[in-house]
Amino acid sequence: MIKQILDKADQFIDKNKRLVGALAFLYAAGLATKSLGKIFGFINRQFLPGYNLIQRYGKGSYAAISACTDGIGKGFALELARRGFNLVMLIRNAKKGEQLAEEIRQKINKDIDIRIVEIDFQNIQKPGVIEAIVENLKGLDISILVNNVGMLIHGSFLGQNFAEINNLISMNCGAQTLLTRGLIQQLLQRKQKSAIINLSSLSCNSPMVGYAMYGASKSFNDYFSRSLSEEYKGRLDILSVRPGWVNTPMTDGINEKFFEITPEQCAHNVLRQLGRTNLTYGHYKHQLTAFFSDLVINKLNSDIRKQLENSKKSN
Ligand SMILES: NC(=O)c1ccc[n+]([C@@H]2O[C@H](COP(=O)([O-])OP(=O)(O)OC[C@H]3O[C@@H](n4cnc5c(N)ncnc54)[C@H](OP(=O)(O)O)[C@@H]3O)[C@@H](O)[C@H]2O)c1
Repeated sequence: MIKQILDKADQFIDKNKRLVGALAFLYAAGLATKSLGKIFGFINRQFLPGYNLIQRYGKGSYAAISACTDGIGKGFALELARRGFNLVMLIRNAKKGEQLAEEIRQKINKDIDIRIVEIDFQNIQKPGVIEAIVENLKGLDISILVNNVGMLIHGSFLGQNFAEINNLISMNCGAQTLLTRGLIQQLLQRKQKSAIINLSSLSCNSPMVGYAMYGASKSFNDYFSRSLSEEYKGRLDILSVRPGWVNTPMTDGINEKFFEITPEQCAHNVLRQLGRTNLTYGHYKHQLTAFFSDLVINKLNSDIRKQLENSKKSN
């Protein structure tokens, strides 16, 4: 049967050499254009300077950043202050916020205006909490919202209790969704463009043993972000960010961190791409990590599964 089909195909190719040649050429040209497009896109985003953000989003406007007293959020606060934005810090520890504000005034811009809004994001889904934040920020010219706050739990799913799971949903999904919903009208009503940066993670690329909740929440972030970027195309610059390892308190206890970068490197490379795409890994090292992790994910999953099973047996 298969032999007959192959013989028929041979006969067809023999009789229609020109047509088959033309189709093969078109297919190869299509593949080459797609690959070249990817290579040019990569070079454009990674190596060419991005927009002048303060010109694009408006002098005197504010960047609101969640959880920015440390980690990636602090990286964004420093980088956005360097680009001339005033800041709104959505943070749980006002004293740490004041210290960072002082550091920014001394090292970066003495005239910057920094507002602090206290919020423990584990409470963001409680009644009245998001409404109070929105009321507090009413009338302020916010041009960029950085939805950065997030938490990591990993290890066996069975080892995670209800409180931890609820906290992760509030911090990783609740905060991003409610802050976006709370501020999007304000962002849309501005005369100049506005932007939303949503922190997802490279861990949303492939399902990973031990990271079910974290990976799923980061997939939520990515899907939410890219869906909204379609909905508000041309009106808002919405960017989903999928970093690999960044050196922050969240990853302190983790030993092997392939191609780790600093929070400022992360923020700097993301901001260079703002307005030019709706999805980025940020730093080129993390684009490479994404490529390699796709190749090794099955082996990685099998190794972690064995580790989890062994630790269960030894308990
Ligand atoms: N680090 C990575 O390798 C990595 C990779 C991919 C994606 N991401 C994503 O990037 C985002 C930031 O990650 P990160 O590594 O910078 O996180 P992180 O190290 O945990 O961030 C520390 C910041 O989060 C604040 N924070 C913690 N719990 C809070 C709460 N309940 N309410 C308010 N603020 C709280 C801390 O405040 P205090 O100073 O008061 O403690 C501090 O400002 C997350 O969404 C994460 O999923 C991270």
